[in-house]
This record gives sequence, structure tokens and C-alpha cells, in this order.
Amino acid sequence: MTKGVRGTRDFYPEDMRVRNWLFERFHSAALSHGFEEYDAPVLETEELYTRKSGEEITQQLYNFEDKGGRKVALRPEMTPTLARMVMARSGALALPIKWYSIPQCWRYERTQRGRGREHYQWNVDIWGAEGVEADAELISVLVQFFRSVGLSSDDLVIRVSSRKVLEEVLGSLGISGEGFSQTCIVIDKMDKLPEDVIEAQLAELGLDSEAISTIQSVLSITDLSDMGTALGQSSEAVSELMAIFSLAESYGISDWIELDASVVRGLAYYTGPVFEAHDRAGELRAVCGGGRYDRLISTLGGKDLPATGFGFGDMVVMELLQAKGLVPEMPNGVQDIVFGMGPELREAAMRVASSIRTGGRSADLILEDKRMKWVFRHADRAGAERLVMVMPEEWAKGMVKVKHLATGEESEVPFESL
Ligand code: HAM
Repeated sequence: MTKGVRGTRDFYPEDMRVRNWLFERFHSAALSHGFEEYDAPVLETEELYTRKSGEEITQQLYNFEDKGGRKVALRPEMTPTLARMVMARSGALALPIKWYSIPQCWRYERTQRGRGREHYQWNVDIWGAEGVEADAELISVLVQFFRSVGLSSDDLVIRVSSRKVLEEVLGSLGISGEGFSQTCIVIDKMDKLPEDVIEAQLAELGLDSEAISTIQSVLSITDLSDMGTALGQSSEAVSELMAIFSLAESYGISDWIELDASVVRGLAYYTGPVFEAHDRAGELRAVCGGGRYDRLISTLGGKDLPATGFGFGDMVVMELLQAKGLVPEMPNGVQDIVFGMGPELREAAMRVASSIRTGGRSADLILEDKRMKWVFRHADRAGAERLVMVMPEEWAKGMVKVKHLATGEESEVPFESL
């Protein structure tokens, strides 16, 4: 009864400081690229997620009936919610829209390093822009974030491919539409499941062993010219990827991205460029992932609109930042500690604290009788700038004693001038 639910986290104040620091970096990277923040409820109708696609995410749904008998679910991801919001305003939105959010998402997953049953997922999406310029802009947001927390392209790589690579290969083997997205989902599991299981699942989708080996050889491509040879110079996939790599050069972020045809993503709705960031050491799960999903709205019964975006969880990146020693020390951030010497000066200390707070600084008032030693330790732990001491002799003159904690310098100050 005193334990939280398995796979969920409590955030104590010291954890909350780190979380706020991380989120502040998410906000800054998105805002620096002109994105606007949105939000929505964590509870959605179950219907929004019941896609018959074999995706893991639909089997991991936290769903239940509410007291009115409605089938509802905790969102496992933000993208369907965003699509719903865009649909509801379709026609009224000035396109393209660039929106971001940091929702908590829920998935009944096997818990492991970097994966829990709830996580916060920074989502950055662009709707209404068809070209790869939008996809490149998203990669630029990602790099801006990584740099802002001190990570470099030696730590991380953003692997890029396009669903069109497989679409062209599978199209030549007679597989398209629903069969195509299902094949992508199986292929996404290649590095997680044994080969024979994958082969059996692909066979079920109508792929023979020759087709499977064709797919495997294409998936191993990590070079654009090899891809051109494999798919032909008229391939849309190849020209799209070439465009992304050339745009990345203009952004000055080429060292961050690599072609990797094995990136297909495990969600059915992707239609074009897809990407995932991974730690270079290859020790962790994907740091983030996204791609283009131009046909999601029609699966929800609306009129399609081009869209691209990514989701970025708070867990894997924190593992990486901690391992690299990149999480800064974060004191609680209060500016002043106010202490009245003895019960007689308690009210005077309250007046002093009030005047500091009215003046726009934060002040933590010591509420009980404490020894000087305790007060110093407390101020130190809080990382405060000043210790304001209300003492009998000084107070009689309308003065307080102020100690600047960084320098140790002490002075007497009229209390109104604090
Ligand atoms: P996703 O690959 O399922 O994509 O998740 C994106 C990211 O969310 C992952 O790379 C990881 O950082 C984080 N994540 C996912 N599940 C968990 C978990 N159980 N625990 C911790 N972190 C997790 C999507 O969700 C797409 N909707 C992203 C997107 C947005 N595509 C376009 N726009």
C-alpha cells in the first residue's frame, strides 16, 4: 500500500529540480525554432488508439471503462491527440503549424533501463509542410537541444532513413498498403527478436525467403551512393534522403546524422523520412524517434494533411547525461534565508522576509528556533546567496546583519533597503 505502481516514478524535490532543468532545455530548443506549446488531457477515448496494425503500442494500452461506461485510455503517445486537435480546427489553422508539448505518456511495457510505464515525452511536430525542409528543421531542433545540455556528436548519432526505401523495395515485391505498414512493424523488431521469429512473421505477411534476403540486404545500406545503386537513380527515397543530407550541411549539423536503412520505426503511420537518435556506444535504447506521417488523419476519418515530428523521452537521455556527468548541481534556488535570533525576534524576521519578498527576491524564513550552526548548514545546502540575520542590537536600530554566502562578507543594512 505504501509502494507506488510498478514502472512509475516519484519525483522528490531534488528529482524535480533535475526534471525542470531538462524540460527547460526542451522548451528552449523548441522556442528557439519558433515552435508554440500546446497541451491536452492524458485521458483519451480508447478508439483513438485501436489501430489493427500489430504495433506494440496498441497492446500496451492502459485502458478501462469509466463510470459512464465509456471506453477510455491513458495516452501512450501524443501523436493521435495532436492529430485529433488539428482535425478539430482543420481549415481554421494558418499552416504550417509548428507545435510542441511535454506530455506524460503511459505504456504497459516491460520495465528496463530507460523504459518505464510512464514517461514524459517531448513532442515536436510540424503540420502542413510537405517538403523535407520540415524534416531537416526538426533534426536541427534536436541538435540544438543536445548541444544545450553539453552532448556532442561524439556521444550521439541521429540515424536517418525513409519509409520510402522499403516502400520501393516491397512495392517491387508486390507488397503495398496495409501489408507494407505491417511489414515495417515486423522489420522494426529485427534487432529485438530471434531471426526465425522474424522470418516466420514475414512469411505470414506473404514474403518468401528470397524477398526476405532482398530486404535484409537493403536494410544493411549505410551509404547514399550504395542506396542509389540498389534503388536506381530515379528513386524518390534516394532523392529525398540526398536532400535531407544536403540541408543538414546548410544547418551545420552533418556530423550528427548518418544514413541507416535499418531505421524503419515501429509505428504504422510513418510515410516518409524517419529518424532515431542513439548513443554512439550502443548501450541504451533509442533516445528519441520520429518521422513523417502524411496519412494519419485519414485513418481517423478526416482529410489528410502533411505532418512530421518526433517524440523524445525523458528517461534514456537522463541515463546518458548522468553517465557523462553532465547533470549540473542544482541547489533549491532560494535567494535569501531569513533568521530571527530567538522567539522575541520571530515577528521582526517575518517583517523582514515580507519586505524582501515584496521587493521581488525569494526568501526562506526559518520558522522555528534553531542554532546558528544549523542555519548556516541550511543556507549552504539551499545554495542561498544571502543570510539575513535579525539580531537584538541591530534590530533596535532598524538594521539587520547580512552575510553574503559566496564571499563570507558581512555587513549591517537598514532592513527596508534589503
Ligand atoms: P516512439 O518511438 O514510440 O514514438 O517514442 C518516442 C520516444 O519516447 C522514444 O524514443 C523514447 O525516448 C520515448 N519512450 C517511448 N516509450 C517509452 C517508455 N516506455 N519509457 C520511456 N521512454 C519511452 C512515438 O511515440 C511517436 N508518437 C513520436 C512522434 C511524434 N512521431 C511523430 N511525432
